[in-house]
Formats: sequence, structure tokens, C-alpha cells
Amino acid sequence: GSCLPERVVSNEELVKFLAKRGVESSAEWVETRTGIQQRHFAGPLESTSFLAAQAANKALESAGVIPSEVTLIVVATSTSDQIFPSTACAVQSILQAKNAAAFDVQAVCSGFVYAMTIADSMIRSGQFKNALVIGSEVFSRLMDWDDRGTCVLFGDGAGAVFMTASQQPGVLACELQADGDQSCILNTPGRIENGVIVGDPFLRMDGQAVFKQAVSVLGASALQVIEKAGMCPADVDFLVPHQANVRILQAVAKKLKLPDEKTVVTVNQHGNTSAASVPLALDYAVRQKRIKKGHTVLLQGVGGGFTWGSVLVRM
Ligand code: UT7
Repeated sequence: GSCLPERVVSNEELVKFLAKRGVESSAEWVETRTGIQQRHFAGPLESTSFLAAQAANKALESAGVIPSEVTLIVVATSTSDQIFPSTACAVQSILQAKNAAAFDVQAVCSGFVYAMTIADSMIRSGQFKNALVIGSEVFSRLMDWDDRGTCVLFGDGAGAVFMTASQQPGVLACELQADGDQSCILNTPGRIENGVIVGDPFLRMDGQAVFKQAVSVLGASALQVIEKAGMCPADVDFLVPHQANVRILQAVAKKLKLPDEKTVVTVNQHGNTSAASVPLALDYAVRQKRIKKGHTVLLQGVGGGFTWGSVLVRM
């Protein structure tokens, strides 16, 4: 399931808004450098938990499950409604999923693959029968509208999957990594201290460093997870990568020798929605009937931390 805020903002509209602030950009620059044509921005009532709960409801509907049957809710987000309690607890309350444990995972744009790996392990351990795994973000609230290198890239949204115990594994292999030494290439360093914001509260990124790092680690991570599952790149039916820049997606697909039609691309429609981007793209491809039961799908995240990872699933 997935959920996008009602408001769609085209490159043209965003560029006009930036021009009024004296920030120079062009729709053409954004599209050619990133592939992004539009993004959705959340309104005041479209909080991270609201978007997450809508996406979760759609996932449960598709799975034919009612909220009281859910045993675990994991929300991947870096834009929680509040410092605490977690967005997952808010979702549990909205859904009235009274039998579910609930917590958030913070791994920025890799959040969804981290959350899925955690849920998979918790189900495999026998502690939980099933899990609702959600990626939900309102990154528009972290934008510095005077920083043209970042503010044109991000959007808001949520996606969700329902995972359940089964004799036949849906998750074939997982692979997660992090390098905290590279925290400075993508971060939002501010915090609240004694009632005031201390430090920079906006998203900051060294775009070129992140770009190079993303292409390198995603290629290596894909090969590792495929090998762990005892498979080869040709066995992958679809690549559903983190949607940050179409040029990154193409470079990774090229490394794996995957033809264009095997890569799911939604960055043109959604921009970069951080932890929501992978489940949003997955839901999009499933509802388009491109990804079907039995397909082998490689999900990949990369982003702040620096973090990255891959999950190989049989749908
Ligand atoms: O979700 C986490 C993962 N995030 C990512 O994967 C993002 C990775 N990075 C990228 O996608 C790309 O590096 C960007 C899209 C952020 C930037 O593209 P780039 O091709 O690396 O551009 P650049 O940073 O090298 O900038 C090229 C030029 C610069 O001007 P000068 O110095 O050459 O005169 C920038 O100031 O483009 C300029 N520029 C812009 N121009 C118009 C930067 N942003 C804009 C803009 N509009 N919005």
C-alpha cells in the first residue's frame, strides 16, 4: 500500500516559488540532472503518521488482514511527528491495532530495508507472527528553500508492506551496512535543547559525494545479497532501488547488467521520499501489475548515516 499527499508540485511551480525568493533554478536543470518532474508536498494535516496509517490500511486491505491481527508495526522514518512517542505508536493508535508492538527505525533513506530486515528476523525468531513495515516521510519540512542543491530533490509520502510467517521464505537474503564516519555528507544536524533549536535544522548534503558513494555501495551490496541467496543477477526480475536520482538507478542497473525494463522508476513522479521511496515504488509496480507473485525483487536503500542495504524477496 502507499499514500501520497494531495498536493502535487511540478518543477515549474517549484522553480517559480524559488525565483520569488531570489533562488535561481530551472525545471530543465532539475529534470536533466535528477529525472524528477514533480513531487508531492504534505499539507498541515498530512503528518508522517497520517500518511503511514493510510498506506498501512491499503497494505492490510491487499493482504486481507484486519488491524487486530497485526503483531508488530515497524515504521522507518527520519521525520517523525514528534520526538517521542514513535510514529509507529501513533499508527498503532490510528489503526487500533491493539495487539501490535510498535517502534520506529531511523536509518534515513535506507530505513525501509533496515526495517524489513529487522521484521524478517523477528518473524523468523518465532517471537512475532507477522509485521506491518512502513516507510513514511515529510522531508519537505526539512528543506532550506534557499539551498537549491537540496530543496528541489525531496518529496513526501508513505509506503507499506505486510509480512507474515510462512514455510516458503519471501525474504531470500538481507544485507545491511553503515559508515558513521561519513555522517557529514548527508545530515540534519540540529537538535532541541532546553526548548530551543541548537544547530542547523535543515537537511544538508554534499550531492556529488553522496552520488559517488551511492553508486559504489549499491552495486557492491546488490552482488553480495544475490550471492548470499545463491543466485545471480540474471535471476532478478525487478530492481526497486531507493529513488533519489535516475542517474544513480541507471548506473546500478548497468553494473548488474539489468535491462531498463527491470528497474522500477518513480523518482520522476515522487522525487526523493527517503524511507518511503522503496515501498512507494514497490506498491506502484505491483498495482501496475508489473511485479507479480513469484517474481524475485531486489529492494535497495542508501542514504544518511551513511547507511545502505539490500533485501532480496520472492513476492
Ligand atoms: O537520498 C539520499 C541519497 N541522495 C542522493 O543520492 C543524491 C545524490 N546526488 C545527486 O543526485 C546529485 O549530486 C545532485 C542532483 C544533488 C546534483 O547534481 P550534480 O550533477 O552533482 O550537480 P553539482 O552539484 O555538481 O552542481 C552542478 C551545478 C553547480 O553550478 P556550478 O558550480 O557548476 O556553476 C550547482 O550550483 O549545478 C548547480 N545547481 C543548480 N542549478 C540549477 C545545483 N542545484 C541547482 C538547481 N538548479 N536546483
